[in-house]
Amino acid sequence: MAENIKVLMSKEEIGDIVTNLGAKIAKDYSGKKLLVVGILKGASVFMSDLIRKIDIPLEIDFMDVSSYGSSTKSSGVVRILKDLEDDIAGKNILIVEDIVDTGLTLSYLTKLLNSRAPESIKICSLLSKPSRREIEIDIDYIGKDIEDFFVVGYGIDYAEKYRNLPYVGIYES
Ligand code: IMP
Ligand code: MG
Repeated sequence: MAENIKVLMSKEEIGDIVTNLGAKIAKDYSGKKLLVVGILKGASVFMSDLIRKIDIPLEIDFMDVSSYGSSTKSSGVVRILKDLEDDIAGKNILIVEDIVDTGLTLSYLTKLLNSRAPESIKICSLLSKPSRREIEIDIDYIGKDIEDFFVVGYGIDYAEKYRNLPYVGIYES
């Protein structure tokens, strides 16, 4: 399907990672009121697999955000395109993201959600590029740390394409 893409994480590797993350999350949130919040659109594929590996009662919701500024440089100010449906006061929030790069998006989002008095906020990201971080951010559950590659697949896009690849690959233009 995609000749210019080199596999970085196979479908099998992703499956193992998601199973392990789900089990850990289920253990940590056992007996608690959990709301899993996916960040559209990139986290949608990861999130749909992940929640089926979290074997405790939970609710889900989604947010859609867009970064102000040029498409290549994250400004840290985020525009909310779709907000959560319900009040999160007193709930344990687990934000699910596809990939953390500079950290600016999640830093802004956690501050925003914190102002709504949830019981707790944690972050789960399938991928993280620690060498790219511009702001320190605590990621509680990380699928895998990767180098500064531009990746696509498993929900992650390049110009809205490749989200449907069943693996994560390095995009080589
Ligand atoms: P940041 O952490 O605020 O810089 O932005 C993270 C967002 O940038 C992710 O949710 C992705 O939408 C996007 N992003 C970062 N790295 C990549 C990549 O390698 N491929 C595709 N999108 C990426
Ligand atoms: Mg994103």
